Amino acid sequence: MPQVSSKEFGKIEGKTVELYTLANDSGAKAEIITLGGTLVSLYMPDKNGKFNDIVLGFDNLEQYLKESPYFGANIGRAANRIAGGRFTLEGKEYQLAVNNGPNALHGGEEGFNMKIWDAEGFTSGDSACLKLTYTSPDGEENYPGEMNVEAVYSLTASNELKIDFKASCDKTTIVNLTHHSYFNLAGHNSGKIYDHSLKIEADQYTPVDENLIPIGELKSVEGTIFDFRKAKRIGEDAEKAAKDYTSGFDHNFVLNKPENQYGLAASVYEPKSGRKMDVYTNQPGLQFYAANFVENLKGKDGAFYNPHCGLCLEPQKFPNAVNTPNFASPVLKPGEVYKHSISYSFSTE
Ligand code: GLA
Repeated sequence: MPQVSSKEFGKIEGKTVELYTLANDSGAKAEIITLGGTLVSLYMPDKNGKFNDIVLGFDNLEQYLKESPYFGANIGRAANRIAGGRFTLEGKEYQLAVNNGPNALHGGEEGFNMKIWDAEGFTSGDSACLKLTYTSPDGEENYPGEMNVEAVYSLTASNELKIDFKASCDKTTIVNLTHHSYFNLAGHNSGKIYDHSLKIEADQYTPVDENLIPIGELKSVEGTIFDFRKAKRIGEDAEKAAKDYTSGFDHNFVLNKPENQYGLAASVYEPKSGRKMDVYTNQPGLQFYAANFVENLKGKDGAFYNPHCGLCLEPQKFPNAVNTPNFASPVLKPGEVYKHSISYSFSTE
């Protein structure tokens, strides 16, 4: 039988942050806190049946509040970069906080990752589930309209961790949610992810300017370091990526599947543990970020995290889509429901 339990993780100004544990029959386990819906640990078996925690994270609330590079968090209202933090909706200009060089990043000074969400644990068939909800007030972080968001985590019997997002609003606004776990399939405390091999279902990517804003063009990956059409060891081009492009892989890929259709986005394999992760989504883009900016962070179990010790595969709309007419629009109108499903599906080979 799947199991769901909860306990206190810490307190912020008297408000309790809970830690929910979702467990399936075969021993896989996901631990999620109500701050940001953050996945703090994920235990999956290796090829010999040994369970390890395969996401980077902290063991205390304090670090999540003060120094987390979005470890395990759900990101909103608008993930990724918006040029100048500016956009225009229905003739009105909005200015978001500029919190990343000249850009707005990941929802602002206090994005959804910094909010305490309401939580309800339950089981459904052979899945252990957690429903998180948050109401973002009109004008929060300067986004228009009140937004109701929901994130439902399900850990299935077949070692799949699913996240189903929904959002609606009462004024025209923008939304682009994603999940920001840093995976290391050898175990969170295993150093660089260079020996992982990665396959991305993308023939094109969105080239960026020096501020990591897409220039608007979709470019073929052919003959570039972004060619992950066949599984490729991440280390192979990582140094080149670090030299040529803003300290490493931090790019959006244009998924081959039809825009709103749910399908495979990427597969990652780690040879020592034999762990494999397939990522599915119904979003058009996938940001591959190789933890370039993680520097000497003290993590769980005495770990120290440094550049390239994890990888993020963040399904989403393309960066700066609100200002780029040929990219799928992140605009959400009253009466519409934004739906975004992600699955991180684990197996061994
Ligand atoms: C995303 C961005 C990166 C970085 C991380 C958080 O993946 O693309 O550039 O900002 O989030 O550190």
